[in-house]
Amino acid sequence: MAKLFPKSFNKLPLQLALYLVFVVCVATAGITYYMTPKYTRVGYAPIQPVPYSHAKHVGELGLDCRYCHSTIDTAGAAVPTSQTCMNCHNQIKTTSPALALIRESYQTGKSVPWVHVHVMPSYVYFDHSIHVNRGVSCVECHGNINHMEVVTQKKPMSMGFCLDCHRDPASHVREKADIYNLDSKTIAQTQGIEAARKFVHDWKINPPQSCSGCHR
Ligand code: HEC
Ligand code: HEC
Ligand code: HEC
Ligand code: HEC
Ligand code: HEC
Repeated sequence: MAKLFPKSFNKLPLQLALYLVFVVCVATAGITYYMTPKYTRVGYAPIQPVPYSHAKHVGELGLDCRYCHSTIDTAGAAVPTSQTCMNCHNQIKTTSPALALIRESYQTGKSVPWVHVHVMPSYVYFDHSIHVNRGVSCVECHGNINHMEVVTQKKPMSMGFCLDCHRDPASHVREKADIYNLDSKTIAQTQGIEAARKFVHDWKINPPQSCSGCHR
C-alpha cells in the first residue's frame, strides 16, 4: 500500500505541542503588555518633579480648581505656572526643599516639567468647557482628585467610556453649583432619575454620538 502519510508526520504531535506553547506565550505576553497601567492607563500615576498634593491644597485648604486651572470653563485645561504657586509660597514654606524647583522656575521663567497624566490621541476632539458648563463635573472623568496625594488616572478615557455617558447623560449630570465640588452627588442620586432626565431635557443636553462629533 502506498504511504498515505510521509514519515515526518510522526513528529506532528510534537510540532503541535511546540506550536501551542508558542501561542500561549505570545498571548500571555500580549495580555500582560496591554493590561499594564501604562497602556490602559487606569492607575497611571507618574512621579512629578514637585511633590504637589491636591489632597492638601484642595481637600484641606479648600482651594477651588479654578484658582489654578483658571481657563477650564473657557479655553481649556492647563497646569498652572509657578507664579500661581508663589502667590502663597513666597510667604509659606519659603525655604522648603520640596519647593526648590518652583522657586527656580519663578526666577528663571522656565516652566516646571510636569508629566502629563491624561492624554487624548490627536485624532479625538475634546473640549473641557462644553462639559463643565453643561453639568459634567471633573470627578466623572478624573475621579476624586481632591483626595489624591498624587494624581492618578481613574477612568479608561476610551471611546466606550466617552460613549457610555454620551448615550445616557441623565445618570451623570450635576447642578451647576456642584461641578467643582468633587464630593457632590449627581441629580439622579439626590432627586431621582426622572428629575435628571427633565434637567437634560430642559437644558437641551444632547452629547454627540456620531463619529464626526469626536473625530473631526
Ligand atoms: C494650587 C493649585 C491647584 C489646584 C487648586 C488644583 N490643581 Fe489640579 N493640578 C495642579 C498642578 C500643579 C498639576 C500638575 C501636577 C500634578 O499632576 O500633580 C495639576 C494636575 C491636575 C490634573 C492632571 C493633569 C494631567 O496631566 O492629566 C487634573 C486632572 C487636575 N489637576 C484636576 C484638578 C481638579 C479637579 C481640581 C479641583 C478639585 C484641581 N485640579 C485643583 C494644581 C492645582
Ligand atoms: C492659597 C495658597 C497656596 C497656593 C496657591 C499653593 N500652595 Fe502649596 N501649600 C500651601 C500651604 C498652606 C501649605 C501647607 C504648609 C504646611 O503644611 O504647613 C502648602 C504646602 C505645599 C507643599 C509641601 C511643602 C513642604 O515642605 O511640606 C508643596 C510641595 C506645595 N505646597 C506645592 C505647591 C505648588 C506646586 C503650588 C502651585 C501649583 C502651590 N503649592 C500653591 C498653600 C498654597
Ligand atoms: C468629560 C471628561 C472630563 C471632564 C468632565 C474633565 N476632564 Fe480634565 N481631562 C479630560 C481629558 C480627556 C483630558 C486629556 C486632554 C488632552 O489630552 O487633550 C483632560 C486633561 C486635563 C488636564 C491636563 C491638561 C494639560 O494641559 O495637561 C487638567 C489640568 C484637567 N483635565 C483638569 C480638569 C478639571 C479641573 C476639571 C473640572 C473642572 C476637568 N478636568 C473635567 C477629561 C475630562
Ligand atoms: C460624564 C458624561 C460625559 C463623558 C464621560 C464625556 N462626555 Fe462629552 N459631552 C457630555 C455632555 C453633557 C456634553 C454636552 C452636550 C450638549 O451640550 O448638548 C458633551 C459634549 C461633547 C462634545 C461636543 C462638543 C461640541 O463642541 O459640540 C464632544 C466632542 C465630546 N463631548 C467629546 C467627549 C470625549 C472625547 C469624551 C471622552 C474622553 C467625552 N466627551 C466624555 C458628557 C460627557
Ligand atoms: C464620544 C466621542 C466619540 C465618538 C462619538 C466616537 N469616537 Fe471613536 N474614539 C473616541 C476616543 C476617545 C478614542 C480614543 C480611544 C483610546 O485612546 O483608547 C477613539 C478611537 C477611535 C478609533 C481608534 C481605535 C483604536 O483602538 O485605536 C477608531 C477607529 C474610532 N474611534 C472610530 C470611531 C467611529 C467609526 C465612530 C462612529 C461610529 C466613533 N469612533 C465615534 C471617541 C469617540
